[in-house]
Amino acid sequence: MQTRWIVSLLFFAAVLSYCSSPKVAVKAAEPVQPAITYSKDIAPIMQARCTPCHFPEQGKKKFLDTYAATRDNIDDIINRVELPQSDPKFMPFKNKKEPLSDSLIMVLKQWKELNMPE
Ligand code: HEC
Repeated sequence: MQTRWIVSLLFFAAVLSYCSSPKVAVKAAEPVQPAITYSKDIAPIMQARCTPCHFPEQGKKKFLDTYAATRDNIDDIINRVELPQSDPKFMPFKNKKEPLSDSLIMVLKQWKELNMPE
């Protein structure tokens, strides 16, 4: 009789701890727009669109392969990807890589506004 009582108590405790587990709490506190970070969002864009020219090994132009380099050149980067594609200063250079869509440019701008989290 007592064993049954202990078993149901354990079951109750398990249900209780599941319901109050941090998983649920984290979900409720999650921001609507997850923060943009260099490693999660920006580095993949730079790798996809600015290689090989701005990355070591093959690149001969200013390296834009690190967090610090991207942060320090962000104004120049945004400025150039926003130029008309016919502008000689437009990047990616001579459209050799696919130009950035408006939404990708927006990601760069929002990252800058967030003070460029790493
Ligand atoms: C096909 C090669 C190539 C690709 C791809 C490319 N660039 Fe460039 N980039 C160049 C060349 C060549 C120059 C130098 C000519 C100039 O300044 O316009 C340059 C210059 C720059 C500069 C100025 C650097 C300085 O010395 O002040 C920036 C900033 C830049 N690129 C950003 C980018 C970004 C951001 C991307 C990706 C979206 C990109 N580039 C993709 C070839 C490339």
